[in-house]
Amino acid sequence: MDEPEYTPETEFSSDEWAAALTAAEATEFDRLAEAGIRPGKLDDVIGQTRVREQISLLLEGARRRGSSPDHLLLSGPPGLGKTTLAMIVATELGVGLRQTSGPAIERSGDLAAILTSLGPGEVLFIDEIHRIARPAEELLYTAMEDFRVDVIVGKGPGATAIPLELEPFTLVGATTRAGLLTGPLRDRFGFLGQLEFYDTAELEAIVSRSAGILNVETTDEGAVEIASRSRGTPRIANRLLRRVRDFAQVRADGTITRTVAAEALALYDVDDLGLDRLDRAVLGALVKTFGGGPVGIATLAVAVGEESDTVEQVCEPYLVRAGLLARTPRGRVATAEGWRHLGMTPPSTDGLFEAGNA
Ligand SMILES: Nc1ncnc2c1ncn2[C@@H]1O[C@H](COP(=O)(O)OP(=O)(O)O)[C@@H](O)[C@H]1O
Ligand SMILES: [Mg+2]
Repeated sequence: MDEPEYTPETEFSSDEWAAALTAAEATEFDRLAEAGIRPGKLDDVIGQTRVREQISLLLEGARRRGSSPDHLLLSGPPGLGKTTLAMIVATELGVGLRQTSGPAIERSGDLAAILTSLGPGEVLFIDEIHRIARPAEELLYTAMEDFRVDVIVGKGPGATAIPLELEPFTLVGATTRAGLLTGPLRDRFGFLGQLEFYDTAELEAIVSRSAGILNVETTDEGAVEIASRSRGTPRIANRLLRRVRDFAQVRADGTITRTVAAEALALYDVDDLGLDRLDRAVLGALVKTFGGGPVGIATLAVAVGEESDTVEQVCEPYLVRAGLLARTPRGRVATAEGWRHLGMTPPSTDGLFEAGNA
């Protein structure tokens, strides 16, 4: 679960090696590189002004009182900075961070073991907390509220609960599906931070910062070109930057200009709105197979041969945000803009959703 060791050398000396990587290795390589450009302090975080200010106050208040801050829940689509902020909370508090995830906690005993091993004031980060098993979740209730876990010894009528005191700690939960959290769990967080998609100016700043760390020359227009195709998502901006860097170094003189970025992204099937193959497949199925909808997300996912969760959590939020797809009570529908984006003429019926109307 720990981030692998990252040194700038891993990134800079390995370009030829990276070029020969298999897809799986390349993903791992991207992950390592991502660890190097992940902001380490609250001040390095770009955008998310509101959440950043809220967290900053929360931490400063706790620091002045000499106590642990309230538990924090961070929600939002993948790649917007939840893990980054969780790590920053620990760094800013100057305490250790323990990292796990909902699906990794199979039995409540696993969670009890983690909780009882936390040092005073440490941060426990539970990623994908909406997927935590119910018995473990119930253990969290008293842990969060009273810094206590009740360990059940024995079975049946003779079973007894032995209370174990915990050190005060701060839980940071992250979720892509805040709506799936149970009320009791959600209520135990003192702070709920909803991360938003980033605008192009913020993404441009992120691309420029990352390019500096990766030591690649970028013009302002080059950075804008990458930013505007990053689906509002820093993780995608950084990934596209690395692909464009490859292109710039192999097919051009190494500098990322607007033209270099545009050619590279075309090569990687990223269109001018930032839609990738899967996004276009989803929109294409909606329009061509289902006549623009309405259609259920599961049916749509089957049509493109993808997991329902991926379509719902990765593709859909951005298609909605880009005004290409709308959620209606009867299912997903393509907007007029969605039809046009595929180069097709929208049918002129009343039921059609115009962007903004969604
Ligand atoms: N506000 C930000 N400013 C700069 N870079 C960011 C920001 N948010 C995220 N990133 C970058 O995007 C990557 C993905 O962020 P991460 O925290 O892993 O997202 P999540 O946990 O929400 O999926 C990070 O490695 C980091 O480099
Ligand atoms: Mg994460």
